[in-house]
Amino acid sequence: MAAGCLSSRSAEIKTALEKAVKDNGASERIEICRVGCMGLCGRGPLVGVDPEGLLYEHVTPENASSIVTALTGGVAEAARGDPGHPFFTRQMPVVLARSGRVDPERIEHYIESGGYSALQHVLFEMQPEQIIEAIAQSGLRGRGGAGYPTGLKWATVAKSAGERKYVVCNGDEGDPGAFMDRSVLESDPQAILEGMAIAGRAVGANQGFIYVRAEYPLAISRLQVAIRQAKQYGLLGTGIFESSFNFNVDVRIGAGAFVCGEETALMASIEGKRGQPRPRPPFPAEHGLWGYPTLLNNVETFANIAPIINRGPDWYASLGTEKSKGTKVFSLTGKIRNTGLIEVEMGISIREVVEELGGGAPDGAKVKAVQTGGPSGGCIPAAYFDTPLDYESLMKLGSIMGSGGMVVMDEHTNMVELARFYMQFCMEESCGKCVPCRVGTVEMYQLLTRLAEHRATLRDLEQLEELCDLVQSTSLCGLGQTAPNPVLSTLRYFRNEYLDLLQAEGGGHDGENPLSPPAQPVGMKRNDSWL
Ligand SMILES: Cc1cc2nc3c(=O)[nH]c(=O)nc-3n(C[C@H](O)[C@H](O)[C@H](O)COP(=O)(O)O)c2cc1C
Ligand code: SF4
Repeated sequence: MAAGCLSSRSAEIKTALEKAVKDNGASERIEICRVGCMGLCGRGPLVGVDPEGLLYEHVTPENASSIVTALTGGVAEAARGDPGHPFFTRQMPVVLARSGRVDPERIEHYIESGGYSALQHVLFEMQPEQIIEAIAQSGLRGRGGAGYPTGLKWATVAKSAGERKYVVCNGDEGDPGAFMDRSVLESDPQAILEGMAIAGRAVGANQGFIYVRAEYPLAISRLQVAIRQAKQYGLLGTGIFESSFNFNVDVRIGAGAFVCGEETALMASIEGKRGQPRPRPPFPAEHGLWGYPTLLNNVETFANIAPIINRGPDWYASLGTEKSKGTKVFSLTGKIRNTGLIEVEMGISIREVVEELGGGAPDGAKVKAVQTGGPSGGCIPAAYFDTPLDYESLMKLGSIMGSGGMVVMDEHTNMVELARFYMQFCMEESCGKCVPCRVGTVEMYQLLTRLAEHRATLRDLEQLEELCDLVQSTSLCGLGQTAPNPVLSTLRYFRNEYLDLLQAEGGGHDGENPLSPPAQPVGMKRNDSWL
């Protein structure tokens, strides 16, 4: 029961199932348990039956009693969901191993399934530098977008001098179409706390913050329950596992600005300031929260830590490709049959994800492209679907892995409109601190609008490309630097769609060109007034 299914009455379904079990006198045999996200969002609410491994999809409170009757009758009615489907069998759950299997609000479930054994191990069997060495050896790279080596980041924070240090978990997740981190926070919050505590031990920090957007109320409340329970069990707070290690975690709630996911803006927001990026260096690892060394990682990055400690760095490094180790969680959305959350080994092809796990586009339509990396990413056309999903391969195609949002487009999708959608998003989310992004995104959006309305000329298209280059190379933070990516990648692969929208040079510009700078008084330089 994560946010998606809760909005489809899954709380009522649980009550109806409990009543049906009671009415059937089956309380001794059947236990109804609330669990987190099972991944197949497009077919939810789902009810799983263990140990049989049955799966019921699109369940309503009204058919709860027939499910229980079938189960108590000894003949499990043929479940409509198919656990043998590639959607499930092609996955490799590491981060999502407990999602949909344990009650996220009961720490006992987490502990029974091996939770907190990694923290215990690092406290009593490993020195901080050995923990960092293990994370480095695993090859884990940050899952927040840039893919920076996690072990290297931890080593930098550990080495940085500071009378105190902080660990921050970035749960801002603002990309349209991305819901991986929300789901992990809602389904397995203790895993994040354990990962953060291990990080605290490794780098020498005693205080952690989890930054979550206010639009994620269920994630926030489950984290708060998880923190309370972990403290009750002596797994957070003072003297963890009766050792000398102290570690606390507090939740900080963001107002839902995309830019607050950028690390320096996020830290400013935690400090109570306006959430705007600042130039780097200095990097947070040396000069972070309130000027102290700060380790900042993404939700999924922290979720990988305990499995790496438990199963060993070599196991993790054996998964994936040479430079992209392990697994990756993706949210599959758009024109795709099996909308949902998946975790696959790095290196799997885009085709396998879109066609096998995702089931292709609905209604027999052809898949045209997939957008990875959200507004900072790019569009990959179907002709390149045999490309492996790893950091380097996606960059070669002009996109990025990003945090794992995957939006699928079918043959009916207008790529110029798509680029315009992402540009509108960046324009609205630009914090306005630097000129190239503040003005450039507006200009690019207006040019795209003119194109979409068949009012643009070839010169406008050239200007769009020039602006992409300018904004990319002169913006202060990643938002502006990557805002042109959806335009550039659609231009690269679907240029004809842009050209088809053009009108002949010189014709049709009725009235003043809305993109031209306003008339300027004599003597004033263009840049002074317009930019
Ligand atoms: C505009 C913008 C938004 C970002 N949003 C997020 C986000 O929501 N979550 C996230 O983990 N990283 C986000 N990042 C990347 C972070 O700045 C940072 O690199 C990341 O959290 C580091 O964690 P990692 O090393 O585990 O990937 C964003 C970056 C930019 C430029
Ligand atoms: S690039 Fe955009 S979001 Fe980043 S600091 Fe500049 S105006 Fe703000």
